[in-house]
Amino acid sequence: MGHPTRILAALCLLFGAQSALAQVSSPSSAWQPAPSASGTVVPSSSSGPNSQWLEVLGSNLYYYDEQRAGVLPDDFRVDWRNTSVLTDGAVANVNLSAGFFDAGNFIKALFPLTYTLSSIIESALLWGEAYSSSSQAYYLDETLRNGLDWLMEASSQTDTLYMFVGDQTAYWGGDLNIPQPRPVYSVTRENPGTDVFASTATTLALGALLYSGKALPLSQSVNGTLPSSLRNTTYADSLSNRAVQLLELAFAATPMQVYQKAVDDIAWAYPSTDYDDELILGAAYTAMATGNISWVTTAIDTYSTNAYPPTFGALNWDSKRPMVPTTMAQLALFLPGADSRLSFTKFQNDSEVWLDALVAGNMKDTHTTPGGLFWFKGNSASASLNPALNAAVLCLKYAPMASTSAKTDAYRQWAQKQIDYALGKNPMNTVYQVGLHPNSAFNPHSALASGGTDLARINTSPPQELHVLYGAVVGGPDEDDKYYDVRDDYDQSEPALDTVAPMVAISSYFVGQGQSASNPFFVGLTAPRIIPKRPSSGLSGGAIAGIVIGVLLGVALLAVLGWFCWRKRGRNAYRRRKMGL
Ligand SMILES: *[C@@H]1O[C@H](CO)[C@@H](O)[C@H](O)[C@H]1NC(C)=O
Ligand SMILES: *[C@@H]1O[C@H](CO)[C@@H](O)[C@H](O)[C@H]1NC(C)=O
Ligand SMILES: *[C@@H]1O[C@H](CO)[C@@H](O)[C@H](O)[C@H]1NC(C)=O
Ligand SMILES: *[C@@H]1O[C@H](CO)[C@@H](O)[C@H](O)[C@H]1NC(C)=O
Ligand SMILES: *[C@@H]1O[C@H](CO)[C@@H](O)[C@H](O)[C@H]1NC(C)=O
Ligand SMILES: *[C@@H]1O[C@H](CO)[C@@H](O)[C@H](O)[C@H]1NC(C)=O
Repeated sequence: MGHPTRILAALCLLFGAQSALAQVSSPSSAWQPAPSASGTVVPSSSSGPNSQWLEVLGSNLYYYDEQRAGVLPDDFRVDWRNTSVLTDGAVANVNLSAGFFDAGNFIKALFPLTYTLSSIIESALLWGEAYSSSSQAYYLDETLRNGLDWLMEASSQTDTLYMFVGDQTAYWGGDLNIPQPRPVYSVTRENPGTDVFASTATTLALGALLYSGKALPLSQSVNGTLPSSLRNTTYADSLSNRAVQLLELAFAATPMQVYQKAVDDIAWAYPSTDYDDELILGAAYTAMATGNISWVTTAIDTYSTNAYPPTFGALNWDSKRPMVPTTMAQLALFLPGADSRLSFTKFQNDSEVWLDALVAGNMKDTHTTPGGLFWFKGNSASASLNPALNAAVLCLKYAPMASTSAKTDAYRQWAQKQIDYALGKNPMNTVYQVGLHPNSAFNPHSALASGGTDLARINTSPPQELHVLYGAVVGGPDEDDKYYDVRDDYDQSEPALDTVAPMVAISSYFVGQGQSASNPFFVGLTAPRIIPKRPSSGLSGGAIAGIVIGVLLGVALLAVLGWFCWRKRGRNAYRRRKMGL
């Protein structure tokens, strides 16, 4: 402590915490999502953004308000939410009361939060004008400040990063009775979390780019656009300085390890896959934010000594390897000539190794479901839409940088199919964003939205969710395209900060196209929704026939077996957010 930049940052936080932080002034009347019935209305205006894409984007940002923790600002627009968890972090002398609840429960988890914020910020550095043209820049700023300030507070003590608040206490209910005490977990120089140090640095560096008004390159000849009036160099400098501190810590602290190794108690929640991707991304974005060439060298060195480019594997909150080469390609355009090894064509070629396998459908450990959802073995088992939509975002982002126009088209077409699937072009005729359309999923696994308090009866009490969780993108269907829409099936029905993040990027991309964007798929969707009844066990049809003719003993035995399979399915989930369920 005592370092001038730290004091400055602390002061910024102190001022920021109370009043509205946003720089863009608050709209005279708050943007609110439209009722889902309007999801079939064909956009009619002849200028400005496509109104249905605007609805997708506006609701996505609204979701981050719904998930907001701590003191709610005066002009807060979600009228069913309350101020909560004011003492988060107090046991450790940090004020972690703000920020966001991670998903359907009340934990705060830094690792997926950094992925979420990075993804949103990147969209604003590429297609940023979309936020201004749709009058969403104020909400973008509010969301980002709430997240970035929380990261600044979480990293405000020297050599320490608080990266988790809460535990697995079984609680289902609203925001007034959240169980206390809430433990906080940290990694330190002595007990490091290489990935979380670096992923926080990435997010802060991206924030520094945004608030200093430096867009990312869109292609070899065009830069991205920025939302107007977000620039604040004081803020950008404090974010950038902290990014550097955290990145230095990530590279210096030994042993280098994933964070759940340092803090075994939270390994149940969001286990990280590796840390080399985080280190390279952190170095690349910090190089862009600071202009310090030595981070370029570090990024290339780390890239060369790890297995890049990847040929398969999902892009998700836990593993960002597929986006590492595309970020290096951006870096090569952003700081041309910074290092003799920083060759755009090399990283372009490397980027296309993964992307070409993706669009050709010959990537290892992947397939497409009968209904058209791209499936990554393992990663798609829980929140199946997430890796598919993240890949779609990578395609949209990279397409203008591709080595041939045929590849540009192929990447965009691939992305469009996954986006259409998520927005209703699927065997369930279901729109997987809540509140957008009469066919939207309506039972998101969300303690906040459901209004229920009975942990044993979360599916039926109350029968209908009390609040529509506008903007939430649910996990998604199973490998047979089936979506049951029941609250306790967290693999399918749980929205989270990170499941909404790719839709923010997608909707801002289409909003940015103005009137030339084609309507989102759901606008023309009139076929009735199909909501299959969830099978009560993992048994095959033949086994069920066996039960029918079987003796009572057989029935009991198979029922136990079926229950076991069902439990196992949940436990195999790639990530767990079960919180006592
Ligand atoms: C710039 O950001 C700082 C830090 O959050 C804040 O205190 C200040 O009010 C902002 N300036 C403007 C013009 O909004
Ligand atoms: C944390 O900050 C919030 C917002 O400024 C404040 O209301 C709360 O009392 C603080 N918590 C503690 C323990 O000081
Ligand atoms: C917010 O507080 C009100 C009472 O003022 C309560 O009725 C409501 O359920 C609370 N909201 C949530 C999400 O718990
Ligand atoms: C993109 O922006 C950078 C500064 O951030 C500038 O140096 C470069 O010339 C711009 N490129 C184009 C093609 O406008
Ligand atoms: C650039 O970064 C390196 C590595 O952190 C550091 O040693 C050096 O002082 C930085 N240079 C400048 C000009 O900030
Ligand atoms: C492109 O990358 C692949 C895979 O790493 C490599 O085999 C090939 O030589 C590269 N081509 C060029 C032109 O760099």
